[in-house]
Amino acid sequence: MNIPSSIWTLLIGVGLTLISLWYGQNHGLLPVAASDEAVLVDGLFNSMMTVSVGLFLLVEGVLIVSAIRYRQRPGDNTDGPPVFGNVPLEILWTALPAIIVIGISIYSFEVYNSIGGFSPHDMHEPVAQEATRMPGAAIAATLNDSPAANLNQQKSDEARQDPATASVRNDNQIPQKQNAPGMGVVAPTLGASSDREGKPPEMVVNVTGMQYAWIFTYPETGVVSGELHVPLKRETQINMTANDVIHAFWVPEFRLKQDAIPGRQTEVRFTADRVGKYSLICAELCGPYHGAMKTQVIVETQQDFDNWMTEQQASASTALNQAVAAVDRTDLSPNEFLAPYTKEMGIQSEMLQQIHSFHH
Ligand code: CUA
Repeated sequence: MNIPSSIWTLLIGVGLTLISLWYGQNHGLLPVAASDEAVLVDGLFNSMMTVSVGLFLLVEGVLIVSAIRYRQRPGDNTDGPPVFGNVPLEILWTALPAIIVIGISIYSFEVYNSIGGFSPHDMHEPVAQEATRMPGAAIAATLNDSPAANLNQQKSDEARQDPATASVRNDNQIPQKQNAPGMGVVAPTLGASSDREGKPPEMVVNVTGMQYAWIFTYPETGVVSGELHVPLKRETQINMTANDVIHAFWVPEFRLKQDAIPGRQTEVRFTADRVGKYSLICAELCGPYHGAMKTQVIVETQQDFDNWMTEQQASASTALNQAVAAVDRTDLSPNEFLAPYTKEMGIQSEMLQQIHSFHH
């Protein structure tokens, strides 16, 4: 039986679509999703995966079929048929990628926006409240150079009202930058879901990044910690800055990443929705031990969180000393600093010594 090529094209098209749709949902490339915001990012990633798989199979399929079907046969030394342009085909293969790229751009923008990317959130700042979601209005607001317009300085000062935070952050901190005149961004905030937009977060944690540690302070209790503990299902806002160079706060399971910048207050909001321990990784090359700059995020029930907080408060003063001591590593040689990590990795200190002298 001779099946017409239009039927073949249709069948192949349906097959490719089904395979792409299936693989887009079952690629298994992403870690577990542990925050409310992760769902949005995963939806975007899965859509892009679906489109990519379809295009990949189509392009590679045509390539492989052509290479086999139109290969040179033995004894055939003739030229191939002269083929010139095909306008409808060229229009089609220009228009399709354009539509796909525009579609993905709009979708990404929507996701970024719905986790708070392009809207001003601050509750205390009159200029920010006047600014609507229109980018033009927000830019106009940032151009207002009244002292109150320096939202970053105000936020930084607020964070340092907490003695624990003040003790961790540099005394001679770089003055906070004026609001960046970005599109609608009054202070860079990521993560406020649209239903909570404009509302204050349920919990605030101040984070200070420094070479090579993250220090978390809880303004409500004055607790200082080297690990981030957050209660389940409570919207948490992280106010971050850095004491020395740029670091980046990244929790892959929350699908959120935000730079911690000296002289600037940045924020990230999330609602953790899965109990567990996750890695917080510095995602900005910040010096020779950047790779060692990681810690844990512990998402726990409200009960466990409260217990932890009570324990921490009981030993608050010792904890603070330890946290600061752990960070004050300027007096350590690289070997001493790396010792705890190399022991974990099974590297002998002699080997490290060799690598070190090799570099010099
Ligand atoms: Cu801090 Cu990399």
